[in-house]
Amino acid sequence: MLKLGILGLGEGRSTMSAALNSSKIELKKICDLNEEVCKKRAEEFNFHAYTTKYQELLDDQDIDAIAIYTPDKLHATHVKLALEHGKHVVCTKPFIDDLKDANTLLSLAKRSGKKVLVGQSSRFFEPMKRQRADFEKGLIGELITIEGYYHADHRWFLDKPWSLENNFKWLYGGLSHPVDFIRWYLPNIEEVMGYGMLSSNGKQGGLKHEDTMHFIFKAKDGRIARVSGAYTGPVQPVMRDSEMSCILRGTEGCSQADYMDLRYAITTSAGEEQIITWEHKLKHYFRFEGKSHHAGEYQNYLEYFADSLAQGNTAYPDIAEGIGTVVLLQAMDRSLKTGQPVKLRDLYEEYSLGISL
Ligand SMILES: NC(=O)c1ccc[n+]([C@@H]2O[C@H](COP(=O)([O-])OP(=O)(O)OC[C@H]3O[C@@H](n4cnc5c(N)ncnc54)[C@H](O)[C@@H]3O)[C@@H](O)[C@H]2O)c1
Repeated sequence: MLKLGILGLGEGRSTMSAALNSSKIELKKICDLNEEVCKKRAEEFNFHAYTTKYQELLDDQDIDAIAIYTPDKLHATHVKLALEHGKHVVCTKPFIDDLKDANTLLSLAKRSGKKVLVGQSSRFFEPMKRQRADFEKGLIGELITIEGYYHADHRWFLDKPWSLENNFKWLYGGLSHPVDFIRWYLPNIEEVMGYGMLSSNGKQGGLKHEDTMHFIFKAKDGRIARVSGAYTGPVQPVMRDSEMSCILRGTEGCSQADYMDLRYAITTSAGEEQIITWEHKLKHYFRFEGKSHHAGEYQNYLEYFADSLAQGNTAYPDIAEGIGTVVLLQAMDRSLKTGQPVKLRDLYEEYSLGISL
């Protein structure tokens, strides 16, 4: 059993549910700066071991791993502290939001011998898992191109004060999901360019940075991909357009994994068309009200992490892969600012990151 502490109990609520429902995880203690939030979660799950001091999780010898769900800008500090105290780490996306912290974390992880799993939750969602398995079986042949998107009416998110701060960007908070899909299939992206804008809804809501973005990518081998995101306006009905989706176009077939409705479709080389949904798993994935929480995906990745640790294997995305995605996000950010294509090599050099990341 992996003995877990959880930091940050907004989205960490889903992690509590995941841990308390898993035979592979033992939840030891939860932590949030805000005591009211601690009390609310303690009540909800009848789990009363809470603290408002992160140091208490760090000093607890009975905790093997800390799962971090604090606002984006705090991840680097919280991951660093966990590694310094000899804990394994699960950190939600975006892993970090500035590459200036990357080298410190990479060398600390190496020195401590502790493992880091980046919680790119969407990889652990049923349709995306099936798409990956079919791809690995060769059902669509060789990948030609990939398209990912994540569009959502996230106006409700603007009630969180940190979403209106200057350091919050939907580029990191939202696009980290489809960008992770791109790197999962095309890890060697060498150049990116894109355009973005802040919509009138976003401006009115108090957002400081782009909430509407389109990007294209070029991999070293010449293959291309694209990603888009829009976060502050209505979306299409789910049956017409799932909010998050990943489309793989291959030499022999094509597949699409949709977040909403747990939907997956594939056309194979034999010309067979199949659409699959997982009605019986809806309750695993969507446990509370609505569909904007991720307890099922978190349970999947926490159990994968527990198994990997028990077997002495690395769980992915690990710290290097997670930082690789942040390099890409930061390159996208630079392209928005300059209006020019950006080469990832420049960022690897500027931040003295090994190009093998
Ligand atoms: N699909 C996903 O993987 C997914 C979904 C939603 C959110 N997230 C991520 O989870 C993180 C948190 O988002 P959220 O929506 O829960 O935000 P939130 O504001 O609802 O919750 C964050 C919590 O962290 C607490 N906190 C802040 N600083 C702290 C500190 N120093 N020590 C202890 N607690 C502290 C706050 O009191 C708050 O309760 C973000 O990085 C976000 O991107 C991931």
